Amino acid sequence: MLERLNKILKASISQSFRGRDFLTLRDYTPEELWHILKVALIMKEVPRIPILQGKILGMIFSKSSTRTRVSFEVGMLHLGGAPLFLNQQDIQLGRGETIADTARVLSRYLDGIMIRTYLQSDVEELGCWSDVPVINGLTDLFHPCQAMADYLTIYEHFGAIKGLKIAFIGDGNNVANSLMLGAAKFGADFMLACPQGYEPDAKVVAWAKEAAVLTGSSVEIVHDPKAAASGAHVLYTDVWTSMGQEAEQEERIQAFADYQINQSLLELAVDDSIVMHCLPAHRGEEISDDVLDGPRSKVFDEAENRLHVQKAILALLMQD
Ligand code: CP
Ligand code: NVA
Repeated sequence: MLERLNKILKASISQSFRGRDFLTLRDYTPEELWHILKVALIMKEVPRIPILQGKILGMIFSKSSTRTRVSFEVGMLHLGGAPLFLNQQDIQLGRGETIADTARVLSRYLDGIMIRTYLQSDVEELGCWSDVPVINGLTDLFHPCQAMADYLTIYEHFGAIKGLKIAFIGDGNNVANSLMLGAAKFGADFMLACPQGYEPDAKVVAWAKEAAVLTGSSVEIVHDPKAAASGAHVLYTDVWTSMGQEAEQEERIQAFADYQINQSLLELAVDDSIVMHCLPAHRGEEISDDVLDGPRSKVFDEAENRLHVQKAILALLMQD
């Protein structure tokens, strides 16, 4: 297996990843995204392979995290490297040091940077000034590592991604945006149902539609959750109120009241459909307890797959 991994990391497609940032799925071709899944499947079979021996990943967090923090930390340790947790409040970035200066300083110490923050433009600026790969661990606009773990989970269940119908019920948020771009790149049909006013970012929808033309898939934004759920292979949801939107919580609970994944919505999906959620979940809001804990739920496999897919991304970007 180690031989297989070494061989795949030496392939010319793997070489094209070296030193790059991973900020949005938009920057990667369908072939490259499939390659990440392929490497992730090998990582899953052999958890500890010291291919990033001695390398250090800095992890800047300005929002909370359980899965992202722990899976990146464990992933670096499995690969023989080390993670360095940097709470934005504890570093000078939190006191106004510029992103450009922070990037140039951290590049002198680290081999890679993972960042979770608010603005996608901040992550892009960091990537622009950094000499080492920068990985997006969630912004208000995107959550690309989550989407890759989701597609690994979908592929493992169905043995394919192309031609499936993926229904996202809920807020047109960061998780929805990355899932939508991924669907278009992998050739799945994507339908998102949300209340009026909570649609995904228009430019991201336009990018996804452009990508969907190339893979022969479709991207649709609707307001009827039943239309999205009908015939779906994947029913996906996320919290109604994302980090940073806490002041809108009450109005969001009202706006999204009809957008819960529950047993009656699940009955509209195909027989072997799966239910997904990036977690953390607000049980009883965007998803009912029985569905989250039910036989169709893949939420803990998704969480596990964060580890495998991120190890593939780390290895591809940070390898010598
Ligand atoms: N899904 C996800 O990114 O979870 P955390 O916020 O716990 O990292
Ligand atoms: N949309 C959620 C995802 C958390 C993993 C948020 O941004 O808070």
